[in-house]
Order: sequence, then structure tokens, then C-alpha cells
Amino acid sequence: MRYRIHHFREMKEKGEKFAMLTAYDFNTARIIDEAGIPLILVGDSLGNVVLGYETTIPVTMEDMLHHCKAVVRGAKNALVVGDMPFMTYHVSTEDALRNAARFIQEAGTQAVKLEGGTVVAEKVRRLVECGIPVMGHIGLTPQSIHQLGGARIQGKTLEAARKLIDDAIALEQAGAFSVVLETVPAPLAALITRKLTIPTIGIGAGPGCDGQVQVITDILGLTSGYVPKHARQYANLNEIIKKAVTTYQEEVKHGDFPTDRESFPLDEEVLAELNK
Ligand code: KIV
Repeated sequence: MRYRIHHFREMKEKGEKFAMLTAYDFNTARIIDEAGIPLILVGDSLGNVVLGYETTIPVTMEDMLHHCKAVVRGAKNALVVGDMPFMTYHVSTEDALRNAARFIQEAGTQAVKLEGGTVVAEKVRRLVECGIPVMGHIGLTPQSIHQLGGARIQGKTLEAARKLIDDAIALEQAGAFSVVLETVPAPLAALITRKLTIPTIGIGAGPGCDGQVQVITDILGLTSGYVPKHARQYANLNEIIKKAVTTYQEEVKHGDFPTDRESFPLDEEVLAELNK
């Protein structure tokens, strides 16, 4: 069964929590999908965790479409959301529509995500009117990292908290089907969750959200360098991969790989003829 946007609202109504994960390639999407994760985000965190950039800002439409296509091929049941990169929905509503349409039409994602609250609400409304499901994203919005002055907790003052509440409501009123709350104090995220009828999906926003999202490389222990405090590591793929490739290299050097098991025989008579 393919998850649809109404399923997530139904889960909220029933008080059923759900998990979302990022994916950037076919095999990861396939595994996540087989594990029953209902919502996959092809995040522009692609820039940090796959392409080796320091921020998400250099990520392009072509980068995103390329990786979204791979994820869509791997996800049979999950709803796949494509993250609209920096400056692909800011300049005009026409731009936002044209670029969002490419995610749906060319890459085959079932929804798009964009960052911002009241400032993007009109664009969200237009996308939804045109049949494109939209996930909002407020709080720490990495595309605005320079404006925000780094990866800081958002909504800590009364004014900032009120602004986040207004942003969340504006996104719901514009027709967004869900909203990501990133790096927001837990009590504020819980309050926003209670105020909205659409699901909130937290990342560093505490247990009061309807859903949770994590960057796959963070929870698998594959991220190099900075890992945010909100990420829990469920495996150490860094170590597992390093051990596997070191063993492979040692076996090649010592002549232990490959053996007959990994090789292909040649008919004795053919070989005899060749050796004449
Ligand atoms: O790009 C991304 O991975 C995201 C999540 C952290 C929500 O936007």
C-alpha cells in the first residue's frame, strides 16, 4: 500500500506516532521502505552528508532530481518527499511552481518540502491549489544558516516562539499537509502540535511532535564530523565499513581473495587448446 498524505493526518487523529527518515539512493530507500518507514525525505542534507559540502546551500535542482529518482525507484510503499533547494522557490511563485512540478513530474516524488513560514505561505497555497502536496519546515531552517548565525535553537524568546506559532498556523492555513519543526524547545513544539490539525514532524523538537525525522547517516553512524545532539546512533557503519574494506585489502594482498569460489572455470579442453 502506498502511503498518502491523508494517512498522516489520520495517524495524528488516532495519536499514532510515525517515523520519517532521509534517503538519497536506491538501496537505502529500498531497505527503509521494506522496514515499513512510511515517509521518506530526500533532504537537501544531501549536500552535507552525501556530496561533502559544508552547508545545504550549494545543492541544485539537478542534484536533487537525480537523487529523488533513485529513491523513488527504491520506495514501493513510502510517500517520498523531495526537498526544494535554496533559491528554487524564493524568487517568484512561478519559479516555485515550475520547480516543484519537476519533483513530481520528472522525479516522481509524491510531495515537496520547502523552508519558511508566513513568508512562503502564498507559494505553498498556490502549489497545493495546483495539486502538489507540500510539507512545511520551520525552526532551524538550514538554507538560512547564515542569517540565523549558525545551527542555533530557535523560538527561545517569547517573540520568537510566537513567530514560530504564527508560521506553523500560516502553513496549515495555506494547505501544507505536515510541518517539520527543527531544533525547537520541546514544550514549544508540543504546543504547536496541539494547535495544528496537520501533523508536526520533529527533529530536535522533543517527544511531543506527531512524527520524528532523522538524517539516515546520523542514526547509522556514517556521518563524518559534526553530529547534532538530537541524533541517536543505532549502528556504527563507519566502523563496520572500515573493518570490511581493511579485511578485503588484506586478503587481496595475501592472495586469499579471490579463491575458486569467487572465480569462473574454463572447460579443460578449451584450456588445453589455448596452452598448445
Ligand atoms: O534536508 C534534510 O534532511 C531536512 C531534514 C533535517 C528535515 O530538511
